[in-house]
Amino acid sequence: MKSLKVIGNKNLNGTIRISGAKNSAVALIPGTLLASGVTTLCNIPNILDIDALEDTLNYLNVKVTRASGSIMIDTTNLENKEIPYELSKRLRASYYFMAILLARFNHMEMAMPGGCEIGTRPIDQTLKAFRLLGAEIIERDEKIIIKADKLIGNTINLDMPSVGATINSILVAVKANGKTIITNAALEPEITDLCLMLNKMGAKISGYGTKEIEIEGVESLDGTNHDIISDRIEAGTYTMIGALCGTHIKIDNIIPEHIKSLTDTLSLMGAHIDIHDDYLIIDNQNTLKSMEIKTDYYPGFPTDLQQPFTALLTQCEGISQMSENIYENRFMNVPYLNRMGAHIDAIGRTATIYGPTKLAGCEVIATDLRAGASLLVAALVADGETTIKEINHLLRGYEEIVEKLTNVGAKIEIEEI
Ligand code: EPU
Repeated sequence: MKSLKVIGNKNLNGTIRISGAKNSAVALIPGTLLASGVTTLCNIPNILDIDALEDTLNYLNVKVTRASGSIMIDTTNLENKEIPYELSKRLRASYYFMAILLARFNHMEMAMPGGCEIGTRPIDQTLKAFRLLGAEIIERDEKIIIKADKLIGNTINLDMPSVGATINSILVAVKANGKTIITNAALEPEITDLCLMLNKMGAKISGYGTKEIEIEGVESLDGTNHDIISDRIEAGTYTMIGALCGTHIKIDNIIPEHIKSLTDTLSLMGAHIDIHDDYLIIDNQNTLKSMEIKTDYYPGFPTDLQQPFTALLTQCEGISQMSENIYENRFMNVPYLNRMGAHIDAIGRTATIYGPTKLAGCEVIATDLRAGASLLVAALVADGETTIKEINHLLRGYEEIVEKLTNVGAKIEIEEI
């Protein structure tokens, strides 16, 4: 089992380059299976979630060639096979294979998808979309079977702007007969990235990035080349680290608009940030004031930054409130932050953070991906040594975390126990 050992309270200085977006990559990689032939994706992060997808592609007899930062996917010999729990449990995004295999073969079987345990995470909206497009769904013994005689375009009105349901609807609709309209669609940039790739392959999708996406189904798609966008959650996490520990930190290769809710919030709290076309500079010269924050769908404050931001709020002057509106169980980091010396009361979906508090290193556990990021932020600002256990959660989503932080002066290493 891997742990991360961090010696905190160091000044950080230098450049951190942001990698390709995990949540784009995990949708675009399955998305390539809609096309016949070869697709090359660049700016792919080297993280455990991509390894898990590669294993699923190999299992489906898809040829995968990975080089530094890129992945070449040859779908010529794609086979329709039941995806077992050992593969589907490894990441939430496994459920994009439901849509892919349904769209390609009109039939798919798989064990229910896994992912971080941050709430119940139902998939009713995805299943509703599949049904509206003509599929029949059988759920049996933790397994799901989906089949259709014919997939036919329809209007899909999502009950909430779910990222996963929007993506799954798009993946099926691009090959369904006729026109599909998705209303109340999610606006996340990763969805736009997926649509851009699919349109290069020959799909006919418009309206992405708005609440109404229109898709005209096509017979077939061809392979293409595509560069995925940079990771807004990784960018946001390092921006917070810069605001706490940076004497001068450059966060490079970002799309500033994608993290505007974060940078606006930090600026209102008094942070010193200079934002440029594809990078920002941040330092810890200004004392940060408390803030009330509510997570929301994009372009609101992202739930994926909530846990690291809660760690940052422990260092701010005054009483802050963090309300988590997307997931019901995303404060698993709080007991560990309190163990480090924070004063946080988490009741229901709201955490009240009394700051500033001095943090001290100790042993903590990364219960999920962003909880791990939260403990890392805390560890970097804490006195002494923190050991973050079970960091495979963190390595699922952050590329070269040790190298990136060591380069700017952090004392951090992975220990194999
Ligand atoms: N929801 C339903 N029914 C559904 C779908 C969603 O009730 O059928 C609810 C969920 O329970 C949740 C909310 O709607 O309360 C939002 O869920 P959504 O479907 O948008 O999330 P997701 O597709 O499962 C993706 C990211 C998450 C990120 C969310 C929100 C991927 C692989 N995952 O999840 O990323 O938190 O969107 O932005 O893209 C992470 O990276 O740490 C992570 C958890």
